Amino acid sequence: MLSIRDSVAVITGGSGGIGKVLAEYWLTNGGKVINADVEEDGLRSTEQELRKISDSIASIVCDVTSEEDNSRLASFAMERFGAINLVAPFAGITADGLMINTDRESGKVVGKMALDRFKKVVDINLTGVFLTVRECVEQMINNGCKGLVCVVSSTGSLGTAGQLNYSSSKAAMSVFPKVLMAEFFRRNIADNIRCMAVAPGYVATPMVKNMDERIISRIVEQIPIGRLIEPVEIVSIVAELYRNEAMAGETVFVHGGLRLGSKG
Ligand SMILES: NC(=O)c1ccc[n+]([C@@H]2O[C@H](COP(=O)([O-])OP(=O)(O)OC[C@H]3O[C@@H](n4cnc5c(N)ncnc54)[C@H](O)[C@@H]3O)[C@@H](O)[C@H]2O)c1
Repeated sequence: MLSIRDSVAVITGGSGGIGKVLAEYWLTNGGKVINADVEEDGLRSTEQELRKISDSIASIVCDVTSEEDNSRLASFAMERFGAINLVAPFAGITADGLMINTDRESGKVVGKMALDRFKKVVDINLTGVFLTVRECVEQMINNGCKGLVCVVSSTGSLGTAGQLNYSSSKAAMSVFPKVLMAEFFRRNIADNIRCMAVAPGYVATPMVKNMDERIISRIVEQIPIGRLIEPVEIVSIVAELYRNEAMAGETVFVHGGLRLGSKG
């Protein structure tokens, strides 16, 4: 079993809901945190708040869609804390809409999902994760670091109407662990670096709380435990996946019993 104490977590989206709670959890348990986000102000206020727990936090502005920013992020982690043990690429966005929208009366097409709306989600949620993971794993291998890459999928990976862009990016996340474990196995590094995915249901973070209240109520009606998931309920699983070295190559759902059509 690995210990969080003195281990280094690189977190993207670290001033957002789940990323920030992960940073807080890591520091509380004696770990060190490199916090990255595209939102400079949020990053600064998050660091200020978390320094009350521990000084072992350093922040860096990073747009995960930029190859250069990700390279700087991984180097910064090595310079500041000398290791990378957990890679948590949690930066992500939604930009919902139907691929094709029709007029209820005429049946004709009245709208299409814009290319930009599709690409933006894929750029951040898929290409961004690829870049963060690639740059961090390079540093981990070259510096002999042991640990876990933990990407975030979603119940959306199973297919949610109005989220072709998001669902596609999250389905990709659920295949990352299988591909990367197979590659690490081929190169004899799978005993040192593992990959897992967590797949949350609806979590009480700004991503969900900014939705229309009526939509949130309709969602909650479908969740057997009768409420949204708390960010710490995702984060505690991430921590356990880190500690338990038998966990590799899989996606773990954390959704309070929600399935598509979960009322049967
Ligand atoms: N909240 C949920 O219900 C839920 C469910 C399943 C999966 N997820 C996934 O969990 C992850 C975290 O989501 P959250 O709920 O904390 O969202 P959030 O909106 O609270 O936080 C996301 C963070 O990502 C940052 N970000 C956005 N674009 C970025 C970029 N280009 N570069 C760097 N940072 C960027 C934002 O500034 C923000 O701080 C996301 O990948 C999301 O898709 C969330």
